Amino acid sequence: MKPNYFISLRVCSQEVLKNVSMLQKNISDQNSDYDPGFVDPRTAHLTLGVMGLKTCDFANVFSAMENVTTKVKEIITGDEILHFDGLANFGGEVLYLSVKKDDSYQRLLSLVEIFKTTFVQYNVPWNDEVFTPHVTVWKLSKNFSYFKKKKIKKIPKDLISISLNSYFGFQKIDQISLCSINHSKEQDGYYKVIAFIDLKTGDFTNNKLESFLKVAALAPVNIAVIKYWGKRSEELNLPLNSSISVTLHSDDLCTKTEITLGDGEDDIICLNGIEESVSKNPRLKRCLKIVREHSKKFCSKEEKSKKCKIVSTNNFPTGAGLASSASGYACLAKCLGTVYDAYIDHSIIARLGSGSACRSMYGGFVKWQKGELSDGTDSIAVQVASENHWHGLRVLILVVSSQEKSISSTEGMRRSVKSSPFLQYRVEQCVDERLKLMEEAIQSQNFELFAEITMKESNQLHAVCQDTYPPIIYMNSISHEIVQLITAFNDQKIKAAYTFDAGPNAVLFTLEEYYDELLATLLNYFPPTNSNLENYINHTSSYIHSLTGKEKMFDGIQPHSSALIKIISTKPGPGAHLVSN
Ligand code: DP6
Repeated sequence: MKPNYFISLRVCSQEVLKNVSMLQKNISDQNSDYDPGFVDPRTAHLTLGVMGLKTCDFANVFSAMENVTTKVKEIITGDEILHFDGLANFGGEVLYLSVKKDDSYQRLLSLVEIFKTTFVQYNVPWNDEVFTPHVTVWKLSKNFSYFKKKKIKKIPKDLISISLNSYFGFQKIDQISLCSINHSKEQDGYYKVIAFIDLKTGDFTNNKLESFLKVAALAPVNIAVIKYWGKRSEELNLPLNSSISVTLHSDDLCTKTEITLGDGEDDIICLNGIEESVSKNPRLKRCLKIVREHSKKFCSKEEKSKKCKIVSTNNFPTGAGLASSASGYACLAKCLGTVYDAYIDHSIIARLGSGSACRSMYGGFVKWQKGELSDGTDSIAVQVASENHWHGLRVLILVVSSQEKSISSTEGMRRSVKSSPFLQYRVEQCVDERLKLMEEAIQSQNFELFAEITMKESNQLHAVCQDTYPPIIYMNSISHEIVQLITAFNDQKIKAAYTFDAGPNAVLFTLEEYYDELLATLLNYFPPTNSNLENYINHTSSYIHSLTGKEKMFDGIQPHSSALIKIISTKPGPGAHLVSN
């Protein structure tokens, strides 16, 4: 089983942490290519052992740790000091602070031996690697794919040679903790500590048991630039074609979900304050079923049947016409996948809730690969580029209507698959070429190409909806006014792109350099009902006033006040991620 917990001695000496930060800065100043390999000094520790644990192992782990606590009293008092007397590396792939080989060092080795024999005695799996006390400060495995792309295989000697013989400080062997690898970090930046031995007092504490039955996450909304429309399996939400989306920043739009496993009678969900039973919701049931079937963490029948309490809220008003199912199911998938330690790609859990949700699992630019297999195991989301890839890309959401859509995407797709020959043409003749071009446009930050395909995709989705019988109409007259305005705005050069999903609201993309001009034009053609800008757009009024005179004027397009409910300004952001609960 993959390691998910480890035994650590935390390095909290301010002197050591300061020196590690200085070392990293030194390396970075010489060559910043190595930055992604730095270990956050707040997580500095010595690993005594790593383990792959299921929750049913914990009773044994705690007994073993209690036993260790009594045994170590004879060799460690809590006042032993480890000195970090220089830098060393494992094959150039891991750079670490080495520990001076003195009496305390020997005692640490004995402590690890006691852990090992006691854990084995209590049937707790313990990795059997040779123990070399060290504090990692840089490692290749922190960002394998990045270093592979950069063709970096090791850290060069000359980068670290200046610090090779430095003294970094010392740390007492005062507290040994059982930490979780997968839980989100504590507020002080260190790993979640499940239990610990205080070597000074000789006490063992495990009051954090309930913490691995609880998890919380945030997940963002995404907007498709290559659209998902049509399924080859309704049961598994398997799409007819691959799609690509941009993940929007969770500061502006997101769902927060907290899941607690307990002894309740039923799985319960509380959505924006309204409680309902999960048994009435087939999508939620599918998500729960798959994580229970694939849980690595729970082994006994009782543990597997623990009930879920799911509490979920959006940071944007429901009924604002903004699709919340993508952020909602991505958030649920992140929590369920973590709390059950499910050994499937977690985007599959999200996809079973709502197809487009699988793309919200990652930040930046994300592709949902349609997959070929009938069980859907290859229909997963993958990141095309991170949220930091395209700095100048900006997003404006124009909220046209707060009405719930009259025909759900699920029903709309069902109808289109049944009746639209144009959908078939789109899937067979258009999408593959557009996917290729879109990926190229993203990688090379080619805005004109990105914008052109985005708009063509939106147009085609709504043309398929028109071709569906009976037809489905998501865009309204204001949506069409927005298309007309953006088309005029792009007259000389493509500086903005619109896209519409299963509703009348528009999402616009632009670049930093055109942002003021676009916003000024929007505010000119779609001014708020009263001049109350505060609720109209998430910008300060002084910024809005500074836009005066930057707007573009077009013949034949009339301003339309009160057409928009509000404008949300945002940018690409991170995917679903755990937060402390
Ligand atoms: C128009 O993901 O909401 O937004 O899988 O049935 O839950 P289900 O549908 P959903 O469909 C979204 C369709 C879309 C286009 C897109 O996001 O790719």
